Amino acid sequence: MPTIKTLHARQILDSRGTPTVEVDCTLSDGSFGRAAVPSGASTGSHEALELRDGDAKVYGGKSVLKAVANVSEIFEALKGMEAGDQRAIDRKMIELDGTPSKTKLGANAILGVSMAVCRARAVSEKKPLWLSLADQYGVKLSKQVKLPVPQMNVINGGKHADSGLSFQECMIIPAGFDRFSDALRAGDEIFMKLKKLLPAAGYSTAVGDEGGFAPHVKDSAEAFGFLVKAIAEAGYEGKVKLGIDCAASEFFAGGKYTVDGKSFSSAELTAFYETLVDRYPIVSIEDSHSEDDWEGFVQMRAALPQTQLVGDDLLVTNVSRIETAIEKKAVNAVLIKLNQIGTVSETVDAIALTQKQGWNAVVSHRSGETEDAFISHLAVGLQTGQIKTGSLSRMDRLCKYNELLRIEEELGERAAYVSPF
Ligand code: PGA
Ligand code: ZN
Repeated sequence: MPTIKTLHARQILDSRGTPTVEVDCTLSDGSFGRAAVPSGASTGSHEALELRDGDAKVYGGKSVLKAVANVSEIFEALKGMEAGDQRAIDRKMIELDGTPSKTKLGANAILGVSMAVCRARAVSEKKPLWLSLADQYGVKLSKQVKLPVPQMNVINGGKHADSGLSFQECMIIPAGFDRFSDALRAGDEIFMKLKKLLPAAGYSTAVGDEGGFAPHVKDSAEAFGFLVKAIAEAGYEGKVKLGIDCAASEFFAGGKYTVDGKSFSSAELTAFYETLVDRYPIVSIEDSHSEDDWEGFVQMRAALPQTQLVGDDLLVTNVSRIETAIEKKAVNAVLIKLNQIGTVSETVDAIALTQKQGWNAVVSHRSGETEDAFISHLAVGLQTGQIKTGSLSRMDRLCKYNELLRIEEELGERAAYVSPF
């Protein structure tokens, strides 16, 4: 295996026009890999640190030149290292940083390097990235290789839009299909129906951060009503389900949850979700409660055992928080975001623990994204079976779907599409 020859970082702009880190890696055999780091808006407080410069006069304090400079320091530690062992590379960076939340070098600097090395190694191995990741982390692929079932965020609220909707993401989940490309087509046709239904009801079709519509509907029930109608009109009733990312930390204050203008205790909020699940074909709920309301999650899982309950801000792709969730029976699925933890290897550890527990892992984008489609390869390589990567507009979202189309084509007969719903 070749060694790490160069690492070069630069500041680029993400899908919100906010600076982020991009890293180029060259190996001693000339193989080249490039990766860009995404960024959240409704970030969990237990996430690894995204290092920003904080000079209000430059990009409103959001430039990442310190993180870019830190990649030079990382290079001094990694140069000449074998590129064949990603765990050793990631461990070296974790040691060099030496803090629990990667506050010294920044998770954005570390992750950019971690992903760029994975890409360069795949080139050197002459393998597609998904296969290189599978081999690197010892994933045993069966004859059929699963493409992920997407959760498509077609109505944006919360911190991702000014729609006034309390829930951050109202999603459609194309479940009843045999191929990823057919599922994608269904999602897209439903999105197009929605584009007609919303203006007919006097609403705007302007989009939020993840490319979904951001209509000023009066409450979540009205949003789900539109989704159900769009699914039926597109001819996919029964085949396409619904999901929500409540991102409840964002509407939790002073011990109370405020949804659609109503105030709920933790237990009342669970009861509210039960009424929604009764009324609409909702199969997945993410961050139903606030990031430290463990009791709320425990009650939620007991109340809705058939529903996929996903921990995002609650678990932040962190093995020790996932262990706590396992002990408490707090959820039954984990959202996986590379930049919440800051290296590819730790992300894979979080996926492996989730899968070992028999829970579902959902690989996810961030609301601030780039043209990098690494997560499409991660979802296939680690055989997670699910991905969350936004709506059916904006290239920062569609590039992930398009990459999955290419992977499906390349797999040919080996490509499988298996829905847990
Ligand atoms: P974020 O949103 O990237 O703004 O955190 C995505 C999510 O909450 O799942
Ligand atoms: Zn979330």
